[in-house]
Amino acid sequence: MIDRRTLLATAAAAIAAPATAGATSWSQTPSSLRELAAAKGVMFGSALPAQPVMAQGSAEAETYLAVIAAECGALVCENEMKWPALRPNVTDFTFERSDAIVAYAAAHEMKMRGHTLLWHHPQWFPDWLTNHDFGSRPASEAERILTAHIRRVCEHYPQVVSWDVINETVDADTGELRETSLSRAMGQSVLDVAFHTAREAAPHAQLVYNDYMSWEAGHERHRAGVMRLLEGFKSRGVPIDALGVQSHIGSGNSDDSVGFDTAQETEWRRFLDETTGMGLKLAITEFDVHDKNLPADPVVRDREVAALGRRYLDLMLEYPQLDTVMAWGMTDRYTWLQGRWPRQDGLAKRPTPYDTDFRAKPLRQAMAAAFEAAASRPPLVSAPA
Ligand code: XIL
Repeated sequence: MIDRRTLLATAAAAIAAPATAGATSWSQTPSSLRELAAAKGVMFGSALPAQPVMAQGSAEAETYLAVIAAECGALVCENEMKWPALRPNVTDFTFERSDAIVAYAAAHEMKMRGHTLLWHHPQWFPDWLTNHDFGSRPASEAERILTAHIRRVCEHYPQVVSWDVINETVDADTGELRETSLSRAMGQSVLDVAFHTAREAAPHAQLVYNDYMSWEAGHERHRAGVMRLLEGFKSRGVPIDALGVQSHIGSGNSDDSVGFDTAQETEWRRFLDETTGMGLKLAITEFDVHDKNLPADPVVRDREVAALGRRYLDLMLEYPQLDTVMAWGMTDRYTWLQGRWPRQDGLAKRPTPYDTDFRAKPLRQAMAAAFEAAASRPPLVSAPA
């Protein structure tokens, strides 16, 4: 049986050594991703599920949490603040699992991002909401359910510094807005109402529209649809502060390239220029680097993942409006990508900064280097990281 001290030491060894040995403990090393990002005004953190928090004391959970505690200045619940997790039915709220993550963040002086007040996509609605009988006045019943949810969740979590108010409402194939039971009942004003309600209920939080459009070929309609949505928000005076760029990058990589070419980069910069030109901030909300089509050799794979990650982060960090970088998990052991879009060779994927044994990978060093190379910017929250 390995004791906790040994596990923590193992995790500590996985993290880059401090520049100078000295009085600071490893968990406060100035070379943690948290500190490197914070030095430039960037909030860095990760998604975390409730599982390791609730399993505290078990060796595996403790090792992962040691990495999280050392590297992250912010957390976001991977699934626990979504409607299916919080809402068993139209009246009740179940906060236990998200509360556990929020308490863990507070105990480690981490900030919280909130994900998400409305994943406006029928696939991710709880069944009861999809099948709800909205009665004879459907618009007001839909608005009642929506606003009650947003108020209650925002008031329960006043510590959230940034909310993904709406997630993924633009259909990636068509660029059109998705339809759900709520939009059928109250029209697409569902989106504006969500932002207005969030502003009232969480007046100090950054309010974000979050989606997965990227520079990749095939994303043109998605980008155009998101741009129309943002322009509409601005012209109607909807209180939106930032665009969340999920940044699940690399998934479209082909056998001969994991990068993006000059034309794609130009289009992507134009998209970001238009977004920031509207006065919006940028947040990287779900960073990972998919290695589905990269060679089997882990050394080659890790090198290419790190190279793409570095190039992408450098480009994004060029924008002084980018104040947040969140990884979608810190270890290959638990990444959501293991369960989706399998590699043809069946090998485990390596899309996050730490491997399945919680050892730092080249992607982790690439992220550190990108933060070190970045210019300083106004932070999202000025309190210490
Ligand atoms: C994913 C989680 O990681 C999975 O565990 C879950 O099964 C599905 O959702 N975009 C988002 C995130 O906005 O909420 C998704 O998270 C990943 C894609």
